[in-house]
Amino acid sequence: MSDRRSGPVRVAVLISGAGSNMAALIDAGQQADAAFKVVLVVSNKPEAGGLAVAGAKGVASVAVDQRPFGKDREAHERAVDAALAAHDIEVVALAGYMRLITPWLVGRRAGRMLNIHPSLLPKYPGLDTHARALAAGDAEAGCSVHLVTEGVDEGPVLARATVPVLADDTPWALAQRVLAAEHNLYPRALADFCRALD
Ligand code: GRF
Repeated sequence: MSDRRSGPVRVAVLISGAGSNMAALIDAGQQADAAFKVVLVVSNKPEAGGLAVAGAKGVASVAVDQRPFGKDREAHERAVDAALAAHDIEVVALAGYMRLITPWLVGRRAGRMLNIHPSLLPKYPGLDTHARALAAGDAEAGCSVHLVTEGVDEGPVLARATVPVLADDTPWALAQRVLAAEHNLYPRALADFCRALD
């Protein structure tokens, strides 16, 4: 039995910064017959550039500043989740959300929260992925979309895209190449995921 309404899946994107992946997801969701629609953007940082981008694209956005919550990450997440609930969010897409997710939110959104990570997982979870790929002498780099579980960048991988590592690459140059691949991969992976929901 289906527990979801008909029509595009209602998606919220969580960001902390520029939100270029967020923009790619919004654009994809605004196409005719899209499997999902981004109806809310949430940032843990009021200064995140992506908030204005979301507004310009006609998507509701809210900053839930983490600072008043201090070290109480779960209390911050309860405020974030209240915003998600107020918008009837079905699926959460993390996109450059630079904050560890607590078991509470993972449990609350179990199997319905995705992330994009700039490496070919399971290689290089965590930070500095591009520098680590270069230091290892990898011939290929890339990005992965995965389900969010309690372990950082450990959830089941739903999709990956690869890019070549070039001879004169710097972490910055490689990051730009991977980011372009992210913008292509994430909307496709999210659409496939949403189409498969009961
Ligand atoms: C992306 O590389 C994403 O994979 C990583 O942080 C970056 C965010 O970029 N987690 P943007 O905010 O989507 O432009």
